[in-house]
Amino acid sequence: MDYPAWIVGGVGPGWIIGLIATFHVLISQFAVGGGIFLPVTEAWARKNNRDDVIEFLKKFTRFFLILTNVLGAISGIGIWWAIGLISPQASSSLLRLFSFVWATEWMVFLVEIVALVFYYYGWDKMSPKVHQTVGWIYATTAWLSLFTINGILTFMLTPGDWPTTHNFMHAYFNNSFWPALIIRTLVAISLAGIYATFVVSRMPQENRFRKELLAYISTWLLPTYGLLIAALIWYFSTFPAPILQSLLSGLAGGVGKAAFGNMAIVSRIALLGIVAIITTGFGFFVSAYLNPREFTWRKSALLLAGMAIFVVSYEYTREYIRKPYVIRGFMFSNGIPLKATVDKPLNRSFTAEMRFKPKDSSLGEQMFVGQCMACHTMNGYRSLSKRLEGRDSESIYQLLLVMQKPGKENPYHNVMPPLIGTDEEVKALSVYLYDSIQAIDKKSNAGKNADKEEVKETKLL
Ligand code: HEC
Repeated sequence: MDYPAWIVGGVGPGWIIGLIATFHVLISQFAVGGGIFLPVTEAWARKNNRDDVIEFLKKFTRFFLILTNVLGAISGIGIWWAIGLISPQASSSLLRLFSFVWATEWMVFLVEIVALVFYYYGWDKMSPKVHQTVGWIYATTAWLSLFTINGILTFMLTPGDWPTTHNFMHAYFNNSFWPALIIRTLVAISLAGIYATFVVSRMPQENRFRKELLAYISTWLLPTYGLLIAALIWYFSTFPAPILQSLLSGLAGGVGKAAFGNMAIVSRIALLGIVAIITTGFGFFVSAYLNPREFTWRKSALLLAGMAIFVVSYEYTREYIRKPYVIRGFMFSNGIPLKATVDKPLNRSFTAEMRFKPKDSSLGEQMFVGQCMACHTMNGYRSLSKRLEGRDSESIYQLLLVMQKPGKENPYHNVMPPLIGTDEEVKALSVYLYDSIQAIDKKSNAGKNADKEEVKETKLL
């Protein structure tokens, strides 16, 4: 514990990163798709002397300018803010291991946004040739920014041999690198294409151009969905066996009911993502491709919603199945390196290793903040008051002793990091948990009683 902890109640810290990151992923994949769609379509329009298509593209560029340079950039900074505060240990490990990759990412993004500014303002000011070149630069750098970050994101889930070899190439080009890159590229293309159908759908029905453009976009999009399914299968096949197993069976190593329930949710969400892709692809085929005349913006919005559901469930699944790790096989979600739970005895003092402690905190609270808070709140997301309901402090203590068992002896080894702490610290944690739950119960009972009294009063009146 080398950093101060940010104490977040309610939804818990994980959701803060999750919400900002999912928003950012959606925006940036949109931007990458636009980066590819715009210059390719411009090249086609120039070759076929289609001034009408060029006019269409000019309007279309504005959307991507705002999307990438405003929303994409701001939410990207939001991610840094959130991960730095919530997972400082993991952020610092990733920064050290991938310094040059981050530097490349920032350079590539800088070129991308500058190219896009020139592309947008240059439609009437640059010669077609120069403008087209700027478009290719935008497309290349937009895709390279995806390529660059993809190595880091996939590393966190499938670090492959890196934890033993410490070879950079093993970390970066890890098992799920290629399928994930393909999935994200296809999603990007699909998002941009669907947005294009949205713009086209608002053109008058009699416009001949409308039907033609929809056909053109269909040739882009329809193959995307078939390829996406294939890439997803490839992606899943690169997961370590235990992850795949728990995903398939909805089980996390046979832990208690709570664990069972939650893993079953991930499995369902993963399935929802696959269903969303198939439905969107099929919907696209019967609407835009088979019935271009009747294609309305509402249908387009539905297709976009289908893709958004896929992106959200994909990111959720990816985040969830990494548990209990933030970097699989290397560092747990609470920032404790795996090594620190294997090489040293678990019954050593944990709080002695904490360099920062919450002000005026008890031993038990320090244990909670340092080891549990990354994944649990007391009374909100994955609440411990619910999970420990009806237990007294002795029974909580017994449960914590089970959580302290090393390796596979610990029935929770697939869902939670093992607990570190002296007997005194573990006892203090059990008392802290018990007292917090009592306090929460008291509060909610007081709330209920207050309601009752109010009812009485109204009756009296
Ligand atoms: C890496 C994330 C993570 C950390 C850190 C973590 N847990 Fe958990 N915990 C989980 C998950 C995942 C489950 C199983 C699913 C669920 O119950 O939501 C779980 C389940 C539980 C349960 C229910 C167990 C059962 O058999 O029903 C208890 C109690 C619990 N955790 C207590 C703690 C305590 C106390 C700490 C801190 C010492 C802690 N957890 C740290 C992720 C974590």
